[in-house]
Amino acid sequence: METLSGTRLYVMNLETEYLGLKLKSPLVASASPLTQEVSNGKRVEDAGAAAIVMHSLFEEQVMIDSLRLNSELEAGTEAFGEALDYFPQMNDYGVGPDTHLDRLAAIKRSVDIPVIGSLNGVSVGGWTKFARLMEEEGVDALELNLYYIPTNPETSAGEIEEIYLDVIASVREVIKIPLAVKLSPFFSSLPHFARGAVEAGANGLVLFNRFYEPDFDLEALEVSPHLVLSNSNELRLPLRWIAILYGQNPGLDLALTSGVHHHEDVIKGLMAGAKVTMMTSELLLNGMGRIGEIERGLAEWMEEHEYESVKQMQGSMSRQNIEDPGTYERFNYLKVLGSYRAHKTEAWSAPS
Ligand SMILES: Cc1cc2nc3c(=O)[nH]c(=O)nc-3n(C[C@H](O)[C@H](O)[C@H](O)COP(=O)(O)O)c2cc1C
Repeated sequence: METLSGTRLYVMNLETEYLGLKLKSPLVASASPLTQEVSNGKRVEDAGAAAIVMHSLFEEQVMIDSLRLNSELEAGTEAFGEALDYFPQMNDYGVGPDTHLDRLAAIKRSVDIPVIGSLNGVSVGGWTKFARLMEEEGVDALELNLYYIPTNPETSAGEIEEIYLDVIASVREVIKIPLAVKLSPFFSSLPHFARGAVEAGANGLVLFNRFYEPDFDLEALEVSPHLVLSNSNELRLPLRWIAILYGQNPGLDLALTSGVHHHEDVIKGLMAGAKVTMMTSELLLNGMGRIGEIERGLAEWMEEHEYESVKQMQGSMSRQNIEDPGTYERFNYLKVLGSYRAHKTEAWSAPS
């Protein structure tokens, strides 16, 4: 529909509800360095985001801070410097918890859209009290990012899951606001863990955390950190799992993060069953203006395909709503491998 001034007016309803929050669209800015600058909160809102996830306060930041306090109390001990060696260089991403809370409060004051605080860690401990402090600063919900790399063969998957569930329960105990849990894709049975997370008090799952695997520097023979931003191919992992989890736990909201770069990615995420789709890499690569472009793309696509609302799309391609649920399961594996024949190239033919 065109207005008299020639601007496009969309009649589609882009609204969604996530963690009990009414959002004007499913486009959310996920936790990233963008929110390190307080002024970026308003810029993200002006660009069209429906909600902002603050960058995380890491367990390590809290630990470093309390070690620092201890060192002041026990001036002259060697222990502090030694203990700090165990922690990674946090550089600017890791300001102290007080500064983090100040930024969070300032961002919350500067915008009208919901702000979701983020805590990132893995052990049950004093650092989880920051969930309550974030709630006191007025965040609308909390995202708990659980990230652990097991290296000990004595530690079972079950033990790690128990720790995760304890952390979820201990955070749930100290806050009243909605709680989402951001996970990695590496679970032997994600549906089972998701059920446990709900029982421990999670209201949402954010799928998935990306791992930033280190690379090898062959000249220096060193293992070096390597941050690679995502592309749309990475969408398919969260897409499959959201499609599988959709509808399994009434009241559990699913958010998609990883690989959202275009409006088609958003549409796929919604159809799988996501309440919101989150973006970081696209905004870091191509600027915040992408939020508005993607929103326009979404509205145009809906108009062309005669969808009236985002809610109408949500879950329409989930495992429970498609004719052939096997597409999401092992059954599909053989079919996909077989389909490679269709792409057969000359490189395949045996030399004559
Ligand atoms: C530079 C950078 C910093 C990030 N910082 C955080 C963080 O503080 N907490 C968090 O939960 N995720 C963090 N993430 C992960 C993003 O929120 C997001 O889940 C991930 O990048 C996948 O989404 P994308 O494909 O849109 O980039 C960060 C990602 C990048 C690239």
